[in-house]
Amino acid sequence: MTSIEIQLNEKIRQAFESAGVPTEHAAVTVSDRPELADYQCNGAMAAARPMKMSPREIAARVAEVFDGGDLCDPLETAGPGFLNIRLKDTALARCASDMARDAQLGVAPAVHPQRIILDYGGPNVAKPLHIGHLRSAIIGESVKRILRYAGHEVVGDIHMGDWGYQMGLIIESLRETGFPPFSLADLERIYPEASARAKEDDAFRERALAATHALQNGDPAYRAVWRQIMDLSVADLKRNYSRLNVDFDWWKGESDVQDLIEPMVEKMKADGYAYLDDGALIVDVSEEDDKKEIPPCMILKSDGSALYATTDLATLLDRRDWHPDKVVYIVDKRQGLHFTQVFRCAKKTGVSPEETELDFRGFGTMNGPDGQPYKTREGGVMRLSALIDEINSYMVDRVRENETVAAEDAEETARIIGLAALKYGDLSNQASKDYVFSLERFASSDGNTGPYLLYTIVRIKSILDKYDGVCGTDMNAPGTPSERELMLSLVRFPDAFADAADQMAPHKVCAYLYDLANHFNGFYRDVKILAEPDPDRKAGYIALLKLTLRVLEQGIDLLGFEAPDRM
Ligand code: ARG
Repeated sequence: MTSIEIQLNEKIRQAFESAGVPTEHAAVTVSDRPELADYQCNGAMAAARPMKMSPREIAARVAEVFDGGDLCDPLETAGPGFLNIRLKDTALARCASDMARDAQLGVAPAVHPQRIILDYGGPNVAKPLHIGHLRSAIIGESVKRILRYAGHEVVGDIHMGDWGYQMGLIIESLRETGFPPFSLADLERIYPEASARAKEDDAFRERALAATHALQNGDPAYRAVWRQIMDLSVADLKRNYSRLNVDFDWWKGESDVQDLIEPMVEKMKADGYAYLDDGALIVDVSEEDDKKEIPPCMILKSDGSALYATTDLATLLDRRDWHPDKVVYIVDKRQGLHFTQVFRCAKKTGVSPEETELDFRGFGTMNGPDGQPYKTREGGVMRLSALIDEINSYMVDRVRENETVAAEDAEETARIIGLAALKYGDLSNQASKDYVFSLERFASSDGNTGPYLLYTIVRIKSILDKYDGVCGTDMNAPGTPSERELMLSLVRFPDAFADAADQMAPHKVCAYLYDLANHFNGFYRDVKILAEPDPDRKAGYIALLKLTLRVLEQGIDLLGFEAPDRM
């Protein structure tokens, strides 16, 4: 299926060409005056200067030769030289019906499918997951689903922080007490204790650093303890991520690239990129036109131990085996400098081949009402599990109050709605921006929220349940303005999706779905669907509802959540 915008662009391009207007200006956009037009083209304005003609005159010429075929009405010129486009009602019904017959809802597969590695999640093993990790998981999962729907081959790699100082802290604490057997609960206690102690107790810190070093250099006893810590932690991580509907294809971590570090470093030295500076091994990554100074990328500390950048570089080496076209990192934007250094170093030293694109997508922080990163009531770091529990208990109360689901389903329904509230609340903001977390606002069933979309879905399902006539895919030309708006919103899905996929922007999917849900609810208020006496009209309404439901359900799946049957 060719999307509406692609079809319109082609028609406009032909008209520009026949009117002798440079075709680079022949592009349509969604109209910003929906009461006047469905789409518009502003190209006459842009062409005015090079053509030394008034935009109105150019617009008139284009309108004169424009052939909308059975897709749209003759162009209307407006204002200083806008071209307004209105789709024919029959075309709308035809496009929507075609979409309803298409397994991909009109989304065409990528012309150049890419192999993409998505680095997201990034939890640190044996440290509690906190809300910074939450954003990476939520955004990354959605970007993964969007890219896959667009036809790319994507692997999600969790890239665990499993090789650092926190491991040395835990191992040293266990060593002191004679390596007793330990549980996950023990680990959750040991890490914060050891971390606090190391800040005061220099000797302990030194021993923990030495333990880290020994672990990284293959000490078999430490390696065995590390394995036990990993087994417990990874099982726990899997539980946590599955509560979030987040899953990874690769459960790799920093530890997996340990063996690649030494040869990589040797090569960087031999090639003359890495050199000693004050005992540390560094690679210069500054560039001539840098506005602010970019400090060198540090490869080894003076004690010879590897750093965060070292494992990220070795990981890029490891990832070459999969031949990615692109590696995308969904990480807190405060790590921007780190990634600038790593990317430059990787390209300069040949760790990452020239043709592989490295793309850092930094996200902002989730803040509390005070505008500071979200904290617990006591002012501590908010644990992810605590946050999810808080949301779930809030939602269970709401669901019980409403009494719309059976008592035994209340918890599961609350979990589903809570996840939608949380994820939509996050994803509806442009990822790079900070946002304020507000449970009341996110969980509200009206307004631009996840639960609002779920209500809309549940409403459609319940109408469809009550209908017992034939169910087809054919829609009739719209009979009312609200039906027309709904249909128009539906046929825009492929173009809105393409834009979101191009920019890896879940917030654009959110904005589209919110608009669609509003149009559906407008139609629902206006039209008595099941009371429609004409069976043919009624069947058309049902087809329209089914398509709306499919797009909404596909849309929320792209965002990483689902809808309950009732709520
Ligand atoms: N573990 C890191 C953190 O908690 C995030 C890892 C991000 N990915 C990466 N390749 N560096 O900050």
